[in-house]
Amino acid sequence: MAHLNLSGLKKSYDGKQVVHGIDMEILEGEFIVIVGPSGCGKSTLLRMIAGLEDISGGELLIDGQCMNDVEPSQRGCAMVFQNYALYPHMTVRQNIGYPLKVARIPKADIQRRVEAVAATLALTDYLDRRPAQLSGGQRQRVAMGRAIVREPGVFLFDEPLSNLDAKLRVDMRIEIRRLHRRLKATSIFVTHDQVEAMTLADRLIVMNGGRIAQIGTPAEVYARPASTFVASFMGAPAMNLFEAATLNERCVKLKNCEDWVTEAGFRLPPAGHGVTVGIRPEDVAISLNGKGLAARIELIEELGGSRVAYCSRGALACAAMLPRDIDFSEDQTVFLNFPASAIHLFDQEGARFQEDKSNNDGNSAQADKSFYTGVKDALAVMTGTE
Ligand SMILES: Nc1ncnc2c1ncn2[C@@H]1O[C@H](COP(=O)(O)OP(=O)(O)OP(=O)(O)O)[C@@H](O)[C@H]1O
Ligand SMILES: [Mg+2]
Repeated sequence: MAHLNLSGLKKSYDGKQVVHGIDMEILEGEFIVIVGPSGCGKSTLLRMIAGLEDISGGELLIDGQCMNDVEPSQRGCAMVFQNYALYPHMTVRQNIGYPLKVARIPKADIQRRVEAVAATLALTDYLDRRPAQLSGGQRQRVAMGRAIVREPGVFLFDEPLSNLDAKLRVDMRIEIRRLHRRLKATSIFVTHDQVEAMTLADRLIVMNGGRIAQIGTPAEVYARPASTFVASFMGAPAMNLFEAATLNERCVKLKNCEDWVTEAGFRLPPAGHGVTVGIRPEDVAISLNGKGLAARIELIEELGGSRVAYCSRGALACAAMLPRDIDFSEDQTVFLNFPASAIHLFDQEGARFQEDKSNNDGNSAQADKSFYTGVKDALAVMTGTE
């Protein structure tokens, strides 16, 4: 198990910077997931840690030791890639044992360690097969075995499940989580799949454009996304984001729906400032009871365990999860309510308002009381001109 410190880690290719100074600490035994869109620098960051890419700036410490110029083989990291590149002419036993053979470990030790790893990964029955005689998931387990057998301080995974079908991905995800629970090795796992990220991580690093957009536990990142980028990236269907403006230093009104107003519960910029209002589809209350914002269901998407309705009201588009106990249909008129406690507010640059402490300062009840939807006189009530 190892402990990592990244400080101001940068990477440039031909003078063009692609990783812009990453600062973070990774604790012993932690399972960290780096998630972000394609090209945001996830693999580059991982490869710098592994030593497969030079570090252009900043410092990488593993267990307090500077690793910037240390050979990959001396860093105590083992990496598992998307294309697991097993040696086709070797058996499973030889593939798993290969790193130990290269390290000139005695044969008897190699055999013992390979068999222990194979048992951990439920590969004992396949030890004498070649990769071509295995399923995708079994091959992926062999690749993991080859990493585990070295007993590294740090596991680095670069999208190791991307080549697997949906069912196998889920199985392997659970397998990796179990394995981590048993081995407790510090792990850094790269993916652009947000479900994988949410389910595997002790802590998530959300990256965007070579920078950290947010670090936190999956629950924290989901509940309090630091920006509109994180809000729309984590969560499926994505959080609804509505253009809005401040009405005064307390209240916000939606741009395409002037009769919807909410009170922030903290001090906002003066009237007329652009603001983004966010609400997750599962937090939208949708009903047929005539109360709230009238909207039309344009499309219903069946997700198996749940259904999502894509609704519109003029220029306002809103996704909402449908309750199971009411029959909804496309083209139907429905009523939307946005509970104040579920509202996220972001400033003009897309950053979450710093003052937003509504989850923990006890003010949320107050915010709930002063919240109105679809009520024409809400403006008067909330601006005190009643
Ligand atoms: N060897 C290279 N030379 C020049 N540019 C590179 C090189 N490797 C990566 N890049 C650039 O660096 C940026 C980050 O790439 P990286 O592979 O780290 O992205 P990623 O987040 O892993 O994306 P993906 O999800 O598609 O794997 C990209 O803009 C990419 O084009
Ligand atoms: Mg990549």
